Amino acid sequence: MKRFDVRTFQNVAEWTAAAANLFVELSERAIQEDGVFAVALSGGSTPKSLYELLATPDYRERIRWSNVKIFWGDERFVPPDHSDSNYRMAREALLSKVPIPSNNIFPVPTTNTTPKDSAMVYERTIRQQTGSFHLILLGLGQDGHTASLFPYSDSLKERERLVVENYVAKLNSHRITLTIPAINQAATVVFLVSGDSKTEVFKQILEGPYDPERLPAQQIHPVSGQLIFMVTM
Ligand code: 6PG
Repeated sequence: MKRFDVRTFQNVAEWTAAAANLFVELSERAIQEDGVFAVALSGGSTPKSLYELLATPDYRERIRWSNVKIFWGDERFVPPDHSDSNYRMAREALLSKVPIPSNNIFPVPTTNTTPKDSAMVYERTIRQQTGSFHLILLGLGQDGHTASLFPYSDSLKERERLVVENYVAKLNSHRITLTIPAINQAATVVFLVSGDSKTEVFKQILEGPYDPERLPAQQIHPVSGQLIFMVTM
């Protein structure tokens, strides 16, 4: 792994507060420098406590939501009100509770389209709205995946496109995901790693042999941005 920063916390409360404070700091820097804070949210269950904390007055009121643009690092190809939807989780935990303009929220299209067309449309949206991201939040799967970049999948080979679709057989799920080059263009990439179920895979990612097909998260190293692991086990 190239240069990165590991920040370890004693418990979920401290870990969540540190992640929320980092989100605020990065938003202030991006808005001051670029007038906008373009963020790609992670899905899964890990970031929910962060989103919920950002929605509380102590944090919500420190963010200039009218200058924030929200995207997703990946999405399950299900309707936006489906229980598996990463958009739904973020909407319920955060976006419905903060004064962000609805046209600053860019969900992955998953209705009246196909996974292939969704990926193309989403890439066009990203290129039109931002090009690259100030912050990408990522989770870590126990199998070493991140976003929806799964071990040995074709999505790992993509070097030109920003967004691809792939079918994940073991989950019987079509996924739309940012690609490795799209993630590595970000100014800041933050892995949110929580729970002892992630201890082994986290150790392999950082200390194990470089095995990028088996451990896709090892391919995340921003070209010129910063990589931060925020960890509580
Ligand atoms: C998703 C996520 C995925 C997730 C990991 C960890 O759509 O599921 O983007 O990459 O971050 O699978 O999931 P948990 O946070 O639920 O452990």
